[in-house]
Amino acid sequence: MGTQRSNEGKSGTGRRALLGAAVLGAGGAVLGVTGTARAESARHGGGQGGLKSLPKPTIVGHRGASGYRPEHTMGAYQLALDMGADIVEAGDLVPTKDGHLVCRHEPEIGGTTDVADHPEFADRKKTKLLDGVSTTGWFTEDFTLAELKTLRAIERIPANRPHNTLYDGRWEIPTFEEVLQWQDEQSRERGKQVWVYPELKHPTYFRKQGLPLEERIAKLLRKYRRDRRTSPVVIQSFEPTSIERLNKLVDNPLVVLLSSANTRPWDFVESGDPRTVADLVKPAGLREIASYAQGIGPTLDLVIPRDAKGNLTEPTTLVSDAHKVGLILHPWTMRNENPFLPANFRKGTDADAYGDVFGAYQAYFATGIDGVFTDQPDTGVLAREGFVNN
Ligand code: G3P
Ligand code: CA
Repeated sequence: MGTQRSNEGKSGTGRRALLGAAVLGAGGAVLGVTGTARAESARHGGGQGGLKSLPKPTIVGHRGASGYRPEHTMGAYQLALDMGADIVEAGDLVPTKDGHLVCRHEPEIGGTTDVADHPEFADRKKTKLLDGVSTTGWFTEDFTLAELKTLRAIERIPANRPHNTLYDGRWEIPTFEEVLQWQDEQSRERGKQVWVYPELKHPTYFRKQGLPLEERIAKLLRKYRRDRRTSPVVIQSFEPTSIERLNKLVDNPLVVLLSSANTRPWDFVESGDPRTVADLVKPAGLREIASYAQGIGPTLDLVIPRDAKGNLTEPTTLVSDAHKVGLILHPWTMRNENPFLPANFRKGTDADAYGDVFGAYQAYFATGIDGVFTDQPDTGVLAREGFVNN
């Protein structure tokens, strides 16, 4: 797929240098934005936006405004924009049997749709090994897009978000192509560029089934002319080799997601690469990531670990180590509800009650992170206001 486009000028150095400017603003020159990089940027529409045009810390609407609406629905995406999110994670992408990319957090959709209430799909319920984990339910790769479109989204965590169940059944499963069209419409209506932040889910799992994700998203991005360095689409994945593959297909900003320190990306498991996330966050690991990506999306715990009681401890050196090699950091995920907050920021024990999330934001923003994923973008925007004005 990528061979249809020229790879001229796609050096990792140029990409890193450009994003280095985004990380440090005008001070980006100190990272060495070369004349070549500037010329390359100009050919791709650089200088007219790009990541550096976004506010810092950047507020990413995680699965939309999923704190208030069932996740990965057009209702959740729309509300995230209305609440002031700088980028909307629309969506986590998984494929259908007939090769369309749809927005679901996981291929298994028993917990986020009403599929269990559809007797015509009862025989599609299966148990599969998903990245080594036995998983039972209904999987998007066993449905055509037309079949998936007969389902409706429901709230995934009603115990934490009982009010969101009001919207169960209201929205269908969006496709990524619909997201790109919505992005156009919203940008026109708002008179400003709307950004999206799709994630490729389980790329190795799907490639082995003959449903590779990278080529599909690249084809759509080319169709909508959003495959450039300054295009308002940032792509993320937990599998570093998927991001490396994307780096050869498109010029978009790319982000490697990093789970807990003791985990191994699934592509590493499959290929026999022994490295864990703990290895990837060391300077050598970060340097390697910076050769094909512009950012990392670590867990918040990799930025500030918690102690045995769940309280925040001291920040690690991850922020400065990543910035040294020109990588931005967008950790995940800030949520207002008690169970998702560090113990020292909880208020009471109710699972659906809010804790001192502004206090937690202050601690994380103070580390120098470039942005954060949040289920409640309005809270994130207010927290940023408080942070930058104090
Ligand atoms: O993409 C950032 C964050 O969303 C990663 O975790 O599981 O919510 O997709 P997850
Ligand atoms: Ca995600």
